[in-house]
Amino acid sequence: MESLEGLKRTALCADLSEESLEQEVTLMGWCQVQRDLGGLIFISLRDRSGIMQLVVDEESPEAVRDKASKVRSEYVLAVKGLMRERENPNPEMKTGLWEIHVNELRILSQSKTPPFYIEEESDVKESLRLKHRYLDLRRSPMQRNLNVRSDITNFTRQFFSQEGFLDIETPMLGKSTPEGARDYLVPSRIFPGKFFALPQSPQLYKQLLMVSGVDRYFQIAKCFRDEDLRADRQPEFTQIDLEMSFVKQEDVMSLVESYLKALWVEVKGQHVEDAFPRLTWEEAMRRFGSDKPDIRFGMELQDISDLVKDTDFKVFTSAIEAGGRVELIVAPGAGSMTRKEIDKLQDFVKDYGAGGLAWLVPGETWRGSILKFMDDELLSKLKEETAAKDGDLLLIVSDRNFRTVQTALGALRSHLGKMLELYDPSTDAFCWVTDFPLLEWDEEEKRFVAVHHPFTMPNEEDLDLLDKDPGKVRALAYDIVLNGYELGGGSIRIHDQDLQNKMFELLGFSKEQAYENFSFLLEAFQYGVPPHGGLAIGLDRLVMLALGIDNIKEVIAFPKVQSSADLMTRAPGFVSDRQLEDLSLAVNTSEPEKAQEE
Ligand code: AMO
Repeated sequence: MESLEGLKRTALCADLSEESLEQEVTLMGWCQVQRDLGGLIFISLRDRSGIMQLVVDEESPEAVRDKASKVRSEYVLAVKGLMRERENPNPEMKTGLWEIHVNELRILSQSKTPPFYIEEESDVKESLRLKHRYLDLRRSPMQRNLNVRSDITNFTRQFFSQEGFLDIETPMLGKSTPEGARDYLVPSRIFPGKFFALPQSPQLYKQLLMVSGVDRYFQIAKCFRDEDLRADRQPEFTQIDLEMSFVKQEDVMSLVESYLKALWVEVKGQHVEDAFPRLTWEEAMRRFGSDKPDIRFGMELQDISDLVKDTDFKVFTSAIEAGGRVELIVAPGAGSMTRKEIDKLQDFVKDYGAGGLAWLVPGETWRGSILKFMDDELLSKLKEETAAKDGDLLLIVSDRNFRTVQTALGALRSHLGKMLELYDPSTDAFCWVTDFPLLEWDEEEKRFVAVHHPFTMPNEEDLDLLDKDPGKVRALAYDIVLNGYELGGGSIRIHDQDLQNKMFELLGFSKEQAYENFSFLLEAFQYGVPPHGGLAIGLDRLVMLALGIDNIKEVIAFPKVQSSADLMTRAPGFVSDRQLEDLSLAVNTSEPEKAQEE
């Protein structure tokens, strides 16, 4: 292999401009493709900025011609040559007007034939891409994603520093606490049988920093949660985490809003002029059937319980009698769907707990699954009240639990919004969802669990409900939502020891358990705690949405797959007996090693 001795790169391919015409330049990168036409050899040289055409012809030195004929895809090259106008310019490409006539060529490294082509578009299986992620990252869309992510973190650091926030790192090795997702645990060598936990978020540390008088903290923080993965979730992810003292909910929200607006100008060149719409949680659930509504389109949920309460359709009437509801969405122009397509929608809502999906299509003669229970008068009332048009598709869900109706129809609304192209996917719609419930009943555990986390402040207006009807208490918690994704969430925190103790009690902790798990927080609360609050934005989701893509793996350099494995390093892996012995651990599994492929 040849060395770099005496050579220094003068530019990246895409940084070259007209000014370099007829000048000597030195470029370094990978061979995208080599085409040998006999006397003439073309090499496309790729670096992180783009691709430049290299020309080796009869005028090139013999040593160069000889080496150029041996170059293969993904060889690493250094070239010196004269930049000339291209004979057949390609105005589509930034570098397509010029070519380099090579007079020095060095092969810095050879390459085996890669397992897939390094191309802009790739239809290669994701698992193969992830196994060779270092090659996948050479592709220009992946380079672009890494660049945008880096731009976003740079901008974020600048923005919050200018706003007086201190960037403080909090520990990765912490204490396992109950609540939230499952922890990733790290065994301690020095304390046999004891474990550190990797942070699910820096929540408690950032609150303690407020007790310390830091006033404004932020961190681009790694978080770890051992939970089921989805397209927008990773076991290891990054938050833009912040906390502020002496603030109310409004202060946190308006700062985050101005950050996101400034960021959108910076990375997308888009000005979001209007204030982000705000919905209470109750309103979001009622209108959109979701606590993260995509407000780029309508098709809102409508309650038709009153209209249909006297029909003969037992499914509806019994749901209403049991305190439930009958609700629908009107899918515009979707009345032409086939039975088979509608059956698919039925299966879809069942996944969200709905028993079934009734449907109707208004027209001169109506079509539908429940026509025999509907007389003409009811049908025309239904059409009038729901503002449905001929040829629309009315999709109806009923259940004794109205939240089930809302969630099922909410999910169906998102699904159909995309399928029927009810919005322009290149637009963005932020909104705030506020007034989340403080607690929700966990049927499995038979106890209340915190909707946001146990440190969230109840709305003062609802304090008297804490004992009477805890499920009705609203929290000072808020989520920032973008295009139907939860981008971030935060709250005002409890800063009163007694109220914090009360909260633990409501969550079913005994005094001893609360102290055992959170003694450091409760002790700190004895020494003067400023009112404080904050929020965390999921950085990976933010980058993903800024780029308009819907797979979080595309914006993480080395992501995990659904099983939480890393296909490239093959982590997690077995460790040696010696390591286990050091940690005083014994492995107790008879399960064969799971295949680490999706
Ligand atoms: P929360 O749990 O709502 O709040 O998380 C904040 C944001 O982090 C992102 N996020 C994730 N991103 C990718 N993969 C995951 N598994 C994942 N889990 C969460 C989401 C989410 O909105 N400490 C509180 C914040 C606070 O109260 O200040 C917290 O962690 O975008």
